[in-house]
Amino acid sequence: DTTYPLQFELTPTPAARADAEREAMLADPGFGKYFTDHMVQIEWTVDEGWHDAAVVPYGPLSLDPAASVFHYAQEIFEGIKAYRHADGSVWTFRPDANGHRLQRSAERLALPKLAVEDFVESLKQLVAVDEKWVPSADETSLYLRPFMIATESFLGVRAAHRVGYYVIASPAGAYFTGGVAPVSIWLSTTYSRAGKGGTGAAKTGGNYAASLLPQEEAYQHGCSQVLFLNSTDGAYIEELGGMNVVLVYRDGTIVTPDSDSILEGITRDSILQLAEDRGHRVERRRVSIDEWRDGVASGDIVEVFACGTAAVVVPIAELKGDGVSIVSPVAGPDSLTLSLRAELTDIQYGRRPDRHGWLTRL
Ligand code: PLP
Ligand code: COI
Repeated sequence: DTTYPLQFELTPTPAARADAEREAMLADPGFGKYFTDHMVQIEWTVDEGWHDAAVVPYGPLSLDPAASVFHYAQEIFEGIKAYRHADGSVWTFRPDANGHRLQRSAERLALPKLAVEDFVESLKQLVAVDEKWVPSADETSLYLRPFMIATESFLGVRAAHRVGYYVIASPAGAYFTGGVAPVSIWLSTTYSRAGKGGTGAAKTGGNYAASLLPQEEAYQHGCSQVLFLNSTDGAYIEELGGMNVVLVYRDGTIVTPDSDSILEGITRDSILQLAEDRGHRVERRRVSIDEWRDGVASGDIVEVFACGTAAVVVPIAELKGDGVSIVSPVAGPDSLTLSLRAELTDIQYGRRPDRHGWLTRL
């Protein structure tokens, strides 16, 4: 007896944080440390479909130890931000794109699809009740983390018949402690993130689990992210643990890896659109690590940057690995990297016209 679009029932928390406590968190949010007072939950069963949509007090989930997410990692997630504009209104960026990507991830992980309309409504519902948690300082936002897990208690290996969808929210400042300072990247030649026919294009926890050990290696070498190469021959650039990679050529051409084992970033897609609008040629194709090295050496590649929702756009200063060091030119204030970053964030924060209709009011 599910009716669509889903209707959400609100149970307000009796334990909302006091204004002073919340304001202290918003003053120095970091990334992913603090969580708002409420969360969304929606149940799915094979017999009933999606039902019992609700906004409830933020708190622990009670799951049977046999819930299959714990054993077989049937899980997907999204990352999207809510931005406060100067007039106090709150907006999000291309939520339909995240909703469609969640559906593609669901398909690959044999999870049920949530309608894009219900996905967007779930974000609206949470932000409506926790609106005060959207910070207003420069470059801050409320990071929304929708996720879906297999909750059925069953140890047989098959797609679960019971699933939960949740949205939690966390006030966010810069993802990297250095803000937009250029970062160093570790080139992992030992480990792959995803293989041919695997789950690399889905936003699923297993891809991130595979990235944690190489990410530790990156930290040990003074790098803040790890770059993965393609698993079949280790010759082509894929992406970072949590971001896409873009190369800028001296003639203004912008090149980014095309691969069916990377996440199709919405930040990257938006940045490339803005660059195309300015007349830049954009190439989505295979990019070898040799092309990066030789291009930097010859001066043909003038900027390299990483991009994603959490980190926005960050220049890459150096790529390091066993016997590898590719030092890219420093992205100065006049660089394309920082100018595209400024244009994107200006749109997100309502400081420039939203000519592509990317913003949705929450
Ligand atoms: N690649 C990976 C592995 C990611 O985790 C992310 C972050 O979400 C991205 C790329 C960038 O995607 P988006 O710009 O949609 O956030
Ligand atoms: C995001 O950018 O939304 C991600 O999921 C990546 C992660 C580094 C937080």
